[in-house]
Amino acid sequence: MKFFIDTANLDQIKEAYDLGVLDGVTTNPSLMAKEGITGGANVTAHYKAICDIVDDNVSAEVIATTFDEIIAEGEALAALNPKIVVKVPMIKDGVKAIKYFTDKGIKTNCTLIFSAGQALLAAKAGATYVSPFLGRLDDISTDGLQLIEDIRLIFDNYGYPTQILAASIRGPLHIVACAKLGADVITAPLSAIIALLKHPLTDSGLATFLADHKKAAGL
Ligand code: G3P
Repeated sequence: MKFFIDTANLDQIKEAYDLGVLDGVTTNPSLMAKEGITGGANVTAHYKAICDIVDDNVSAEVIATTFDEIIAEGEALAALNPKIVVKVPMIKDGVKAIKYFTDKGIKTNCTLIFSAGQALLAAKAGATYVSPFLGRLDDISTDGLQLIEDIRLIFDNYGYPTQILAASIRGPLHIVACAKLGADVITAPLSAIIALLKHPLTDSGLATFLADHKKAAGL
């Protein structure tokens, strides 16, 4: 399973990359705004900076919502760096744009997926990734993990190469559950990735090992 970090914060991207487990980055307009990144030149420079840190897979989301504008914006983003994956919303013109990008060999991530039908349509259009939003479904008392299971079944039934990129991950248990369900990728905040390595028995076990070593060595 690939690990992406869901942030536009360069320090957090570096920290996750330095851990040696990072396969990519996902951003969205809200995450870019959180870092104070607005306006064409700033956005472009920021995506380039992210691409300089990681090896591949940098999802850059279009703001446009009409076909011609999505194409223009997406092609400009894709031209920045071969690592860029154009992130397109699940709307009618977005589906058409995904088909266009696919035919041109441009990688896409279809975002704001909340149903299996939406994922199926994005896969039909040739999306490289679909991003079902687990946490936001859980927030409205709908089972986000069930959606991952349903999409996995559908994609496997027909051999769709589109990868399931589980998004809106809220914690380490979401990551483990996605791994059990066969998601191809998770994108998570740094805190959820770091939380995976924590266990109180690891901490107390290590403290005992170090104390025993110190005692035996007469330190
Ligand atoms: O990047 C898309 C998705 O991961 C957003 O997550 O936490 O805003 O629901 P969240």
